[in-house]
Amino acid sequence: MNNEINEILKFGRELGYPLMLDDSVKLLIETVQNLKPNKVLEIGTAIGYSGSLILSSCDCNLITLEKNSDSAEIAKSNFAKLGLSDRVQVINVDAMDYLINCNDKFSFIFLDGPKGQYLHYKDKLIDLLEVGGILLADNVLFRNYVRGNEEVPRKFKTLVNNLRLFLNQIENDKRLQTTIYNIGDGVSISKKLCD
Ligand SMILES: C[S@@+](CC[C@H](N)C(=O)[O-])C[C@H]1O[C@@H](n2cnc3c(N)ncnc32)[C@H](O)[C@@H]1O
Repeated sequence: MNNEINEILKFGRELGYPLMLDDSVKLLIETVQNLKPNKVLEIGTAIGYSGSLILSSCDCNLITLEKNSDSAEIAKSNFAKLGLSDRVQVINVDAMDYLINCNDKFSFIFLDGPKGQYLHYKDKLIDLLEVGGILLADNVLFRNYVRGNEEVPRKFKTLVNNLRLFLNQIENDKRLQTTIYNIGDGVSISKKLCD
């Protein structure tokens, strides 16, 4: 299956899809292999690369949300090619519209959707996470602007400010134990300790 997943990566990178970076992928796989979640939520499917990695690293069921209908269709076809369709539901939706009405519980949540929205998803995602579960968010250091000294270009100011607030809040939330990893584009891992 690894070769087939690499084909998805190659195809995605050639066409310019913003797929997860290799160092962050390693951490994602390690986390999933250790946690062995049974129900996983992913925000930001793209073409199903990270979803395929999650599904092939543990025996879980995955709900994955993607706003772009073309990407969602490609993801469905990639999951089918890998024989993973029976464990994954690709939902073509704006993540917030799904989250507002969701009352499920998940043992692992992978947050890789719109970076400026992490702050707005945070409270709901913590509610949806089981105690003992993990929220892993990618790109939290966004091009090193979030905790770096370089001036943030105007077009990224809101996004970077929102990520700063997101990180401060998950680091100071008593329900969570959070570590920020300066790898790839920055990854945060938050374990839920209590409701
Ligand atoms: C960084 S990419 C995800 C990459 C993917 N996790 C991977 O590594 O294989 C972010 C994805 O989020 C999607 N997205 C952006 N805004 C969204 C929203 N409001 N709701 C759901 N998906 C969204 C984009 O279309 C894009 O495919």
